[in-house]
Amino acid sequence: MNGNLIIKNANELVTCSGFAAKKGAEMSELHVIPDGAVLVKAGVIEAVGQTAEIDASLEKSGGELSDYDVIDAQNKAVLPGFVDSHTHLIFGGYRAEEFSWRLRGDSYMDIMQRGGGIINTVRATRESSANDLLQAGIKRLDSMLAFGVTTVEGKSGYGLDKDTEIKQLEVMNHLDGIHYLDIIPTFLGAHAVPEEYKDRQDQFIDFMIQDVMPEVAERHLAQYCDVFCEQNVFSVDQSRRLLTKAAEMGFSLKLHADEIVQLGGAELAAELNASSADHLLQASDEGIRRMAEAGVIATLLPGTAFSLKESYARGRFMIDSNCAVALATDFNPGSCFSESVPLLVALATLYMGITTEEAISALTINGAAALDRADVIGSIDAGKQADIVILEYPSYKFIPYNIGVNTVEKVVKKGNLVFDKEKGGMTYC
Ligand code: NIG
Ligand code: FE
Repeated sequence: MNGNLIIKNANELVTCSGFAAKKGAEMSELHVIPDGAVLVKAGVIEAVGQTAEIDASLEKSGGELSDYDVIDAQNKAVLPGFVDSHTHLIFGGYRAEEFSWRLRGDSYMDIMQRGGGIINTVRATRESSANDLLQAGIKRLDSMLAFGVTTVEGKSGYGLDKDTEIKQLEVMNHLDGIHYLDIIPTFLGAHAVPEEYKDRQDQFIDFMIQDVMPEVAERHLAQYCDVFCEQNVFSVDQSRRLLTKAAEMGFSLKLHADEIVQLGGAELAAELNASSADHLLQASDEGIRRMAEAGVIATLLPGTAFSLKESYARGRFMIDSNCAVALATDFNPGSCFSESVPLLVALATLYMGITTEEAISALTINGAAALDRADVIGSIDAGKQADIVILEYPSYKFIPYNIGVNTVEKVVKKGNLVFDKEKGGMTYC
């Protein structure tokens, strides 16, 4: 596992080349190299081109082929590792029972108002030990890796008290150290109002700002601060107050915005220069326009709309309005218990008017941009971390075409082959 690798003879090397978010029409540009190859040294991409060019550049640099692992990608498509830029992957318990209530007609918000939903998971997460959360986290990350995800964002928000919020963030930081995937933690202390603060939202926001956020910031436990800006959860004013303080403490910003009701979350994201606004099912035309102007990534989560039987976010309109759109799973125990990338792509392409090329940009370079990492990951460019997926098919076009099925055969993380379907799954050193 020295991170020296050559991938060669790829039928399509889909580079998604770029070092910043792709906006609007740019999302269609995948920069595909036929008969492509990638040269990786110590986990970093050194050269990208046609196989003959890469062979020649190795020879010219005096490199020894024996120092490199070689993957022959003949008849395969090669792409950047996928970036799942919005998940809630650390939680205790499950909500299968609530899912069956929803199938009988109860709405997500009804269940939440009755003390179920997020609060149900809060109870279970408070009761879980850090080790239980860690073990569950490892399994979930393993599953994500098999779908070609090489970087994942994860939110707290199932504690809503100081100890449990910090426990969740510590678990994510620990996982980042021990698992192949890179995990980017987000502090979502304002995810719901706990029983102790019923009808006292403002005091709860004060508590988060004064008692929890400073320690999270000081210990660098999270890069982002997020908030559930929604009717009957946190208002635009409360969200603004929390996020303004968070920015002062050094966090970058994210919002759960305009998911169920059109509240002005997209406008707030633009006003605060957030890295992303997420969900956006009900975002207004004006909010979308302002996001495009401010360069806020629109992170769309079609698995959640599907699972909640809501109408999808207006992905086509957003891209046509020159937004940079990212796609993510929103994996969580309630509104979308699915880490499936193929499902997400199926919904985006078949139901949101997003093309295959745009969906791939959304899952790679724009996912990276939603995590402010488009300079390091999200494309196959020289100088970037070598996070790469190899499909079992010759073209990226098989990703939506093989509906709901995982087409990923191999996953390379930092230049090492860490997952290989042909060898039965995860490969360990
Ligand atoms: O992104 N909308 C709020 N939060 C999550 C759901 C969390 C849950 O139901 O446990 C979401 O959909
Ligand atoms: Fe979410």
